[in-house]
Amino acid sequence: MIVGVVKESFPGERRVALVPAVVPVLAKAGLETMVEAGAGWEAGYTDGAYAEKGAKIAPNRAAVFGAADIVAQVLCYGANDKTGAADLPLLRRDQVLIGFLRPLGSKESVSQIASTGAMAFSVELMPRTTRAQSMDALSSMATVAGYKGVLIAANTLPRIFPMMTTAAGTITPGRVLIIGVGVAGLQAIATAKRLGAVVSGYDLRPAVKEQVQSLGARFVELAVEAKDAQDAGGYAKAQDEAFYARQRELLGRVVADNDVVITTAVVPGKKAPVLVTKEMVQGMAPGSVIVDLAAERGGNCELTRANETIIANGVTIVGEINLAGTVPYHASQMYARNLVTFLTLLVKAGKLNLNMQDDIIRETLVTQGGEVVNARVRDTIGLPART
Ligand SMILES: NC(=O)c1ccc[n+]([C@@H]2O[C@H](COP(=O)([O-])OP(=O)(O)OC[C@H]3O[C@@H](n4cnc5c(N)ncnc54)[C@H](O)[C@@H]3O)[C@@H](O)[C@H]2O)c1
Repeated sequence: MIVGVVKESFPGERRVALVPAVVPVLAKAGLETMVEAGAGWEAGYTDGAYAEKGAKIAPNRAAVFGAADIVAQVLCYGANDKTGAADLPLLRRDQVLIGFLRPLGSKESVSQIASTGAMAFSVELMPRTTRAQSMDALSSMATVAGYKGVLIAANTLPRIFPMMTTAAGTITPGRVLIIGVGVAGLQAIATAKRLGAVVSGYDLRPAVKEQVQSLGARFVELAVEAKDAQDAGGYAKAQDEAFYARQRELLGRVVADNDVVITTAVVPGKKAPVLVTKEMVQGMAPGSVIVDLAAERGGNCELTRANETIIANGVTIVGEINLAGTVPYHASQMYARNLVTFLTLLVKAGKLNLNMQDDIIRETLVTQGGEVVNARVRDTIGLPART
C-alpha cells in the first residue's frame, strides 16, 4: 500500500502531514510513502530528506492522489474551506483520506467527501482515551498553540515577563492569567512560568486545580460551581447562561489584575463561551494583552476577531487561529507521529484492517461507500441515524 503526502493547499499553511523520520516506521508496517515535491519545504523538510528515508517523490498533487491508497493531509476539504474542494475530483472510491476534516462543522463538505466514495477519517474525532493519546492530533496542536500563544503575548506586552533586580531598579514580574486549563492551557502555564511571569490558571473543571499547582501556578477559585463540570471524556460540559453570567462577573476582577490573559476555553461542538466582555477589557490596564486561542470557535473575548489582532482601549487582542501552523517543523513532527500511530492500527501487514469493533477506528471514520457513516457526525449535522 502507498501512503501519499501532498503539499498543503490552504493559503499560508506551512505544516506537512508526514515528516521524513516516520517513513521507515511506515515501511515496517508495509506502507510505502510517496511525497509531492516540495510538500515539506515550508516546514523545514526537503525532498532529499524524504528520499533519503526511502520515500518516492511525485511531481505533483494529482500524481500522489492517483497512486496513493491512503492520502494523509493536515487540512483536508472541510477544514480547508478555501482551496480544499479542488481535491474532491481527485479522490476515488475506497481511497483512504486522513486529516482534519472539521466533520461537525459543515453538512455540505462532509456530504461532498462522502459522495466521492472515499473512506475519510477525521483526526478531530479521536477518542479521549489513554490508548488513543499517542494519536491525538488535537492535543499535539493545542500543545504547540499554548506555547506560541505565550510567546506572542510576551512579544506584544510593553513589559518584561520575569522579575529583574538591576542597577536601574527592580522590575516587577508580568502577571499572566490562563482561562481554560486543558492541553493548551497547561502548556501556556508552563511556558509563562519558564519566562518568569507570575502565573495563575482558572478552569470550570475543579479536577485541574492540582495540575495548575504542580506547574507552580496559582489556581483561581471562583464562587461559582459548574454542574457536571466534565463529561466521561474529560471535556468540559456546556453550562447555562446564568453560570456564564456569574462567571464573567467574578472573572472581571481577576482579569483586571493581570497584564496578559490567554483564553482557551471551549466546549466540544459548541461556540466558545464569552468569558471576557468588552467591559472587562476596559478594566484592564493599557498595554495589556489578550491572546484568544478560542478565536476559531467564536472566541472567549467578546471583542476578538478571528485571524486579526486589534487594539481596544489600549488592550491588544490577538485572534490568530492557526498558531500551531506558525511552528510548522515541530507541529508537523508531532502530527506525523500521531498519524503513524493511527496508521499502524489501521493497516496490518500491508493491508487495510477496518476493525469496526475498535473505538478508535469506529469513532474517527466519517465516510465510507458513498455515505456519512459516523453516528456522531450524522447526529450533529442533522442526518437520520443509520439502521
Ligand atoms: N487521550 C486523552 O486521554 C486526552 C487527550 C487530550 C486531553 N485529555 C484531557 O481532556 C481534558 C480537556 O482537554 P482539552 O485541552 O482538549 O480541552 P478543550 O480544548 O476542550 O477545552 C479547553 C479547556 O477549557 C475549559 N473550559 C471550557 N469552558 C470553560 C469555562 N466556561 N470556564 C473555564 N474553563 C472552561 C475546559 O474545561 C478545558 O480544560 C483535559 O483534562 C485533558 O487532560 C485527555
